[in-house]
Amino acid sequence: MTELKVLLSRDEIAKRVNELAAEITRDFAGEAVIFVGVLKGAAIFLADLSRAVKLDATFDFIGVSSYGNRPSPPQELKAGWDSTGEVKLTKDVDQSMQGKNIVLVEDILDTGLTLTYLKKLLEAHQPRRLKIAALLDKPSRRKMPIQGDYVGFQIPDEFVVGYGLDYAERYRNLADICIIPRE
Ligand code: IMP
Repeated sequence: MTELKVLLSRDEIAKRVNELAAEITRDFAGEAVIFVGVLKGAAIFLADLSRAVKLDATFDFIGVSSYGNRPSPPQELKAGWDSTGEVKLTKDVDQSMQGKNIVLVEDILDTGLTLTYLKKLLEAHQPRRLKIAALLDKPSRRKMPIQGDYVGFQIPDEFVVGYGLDYAERYRNLADICIIPRE
C-alpha cells in the first residue's frame, strides 16, 4: 500500500476555500455567475466553493483529455507528464456563455496547457467576464504564461491526490490533499 503524506489538511483547505469564495462574492457582488468545473478533478472544489459564495450561481461542466500516449501511472508519477499541448474536448458546456459571468474551476494549474486551451475556448463564447479559480498551482511546472485569478495554494512539484485529484482514478475521495512519494 502506498504511503501518503498529508500536504494540506481538510481544515486548511476549508479555510482557504472560504477565503476564495469571499473574494469571488466581493468581485461579482449583485451579479449572477456560472461556475464551470473541469471534470473530474474539480468536482469537489466546485461543490465547496460554490456553496460558500453568496451569489446567484449555476453550474456547468466541461471535459478534456490530452492527445498523445499518456504514460503508465507509475511513469507519470515519476516524471510528470508533458503532453504535446493538444487538448481534446470530451464534453462541452451545456449552455450559452455569451454575456455571462464565468468562473472556470480547475483542481490544479500544472503546465497550464489545459487552462490555456479552455480559456481560449470559453472566450470564443464572448462571456461578460471570465475568471479562473484553481485550488492548487505548481508554478515551477508552467509551460504557458497563464495564471489563476483565485488560487488556493502554491505547491512544490510533487504529485498530489485527494479532494478530487486522482492517481489512476483513485484517491479522489480523500478529504486531505496528500503527496504520493516518488520513492
Ligand atoms: P496542465 O494542463 O498541465 O496544467 O494539467 C492540469 C491537469 O493535470 C490537472 O487538471 C490534473 O488532472 C493533472 N495533474 C497535474 N498535476 C497533478 C497532480 O499532482 N496530481 C493529480 N493530477 C495532476
